Amino acid sequence: MVPKGTDWLSIANKAGVIIPTGCLNGSCGACEIEVNGQIVRACINSVPSCKSKILIVKFITDPFW
Ligand code: FES
Repeated sequence: MVPKGTDWLSIANKAGVIIPTGCLNGSCGACEIEVNGQIVRACINSVPSCKSKILIVKFITDPFW
């Protein structure tokens, strides 16, 4: 279980998953992931609260990265 507010990059790193990054300030989009159907930029977002306690996280396929 991951506490609400944990940043996506650090939790992915702990899980052995590499999220591609670029700017690390939210402007380039290289770190975009999909969380329960919503696109988020991992470098500037953190794990949200979730009533169901299940978050489905996917990589985004971006032809530019
Ligand atoms: S690394 Fe550029 S938006 Fe996240």
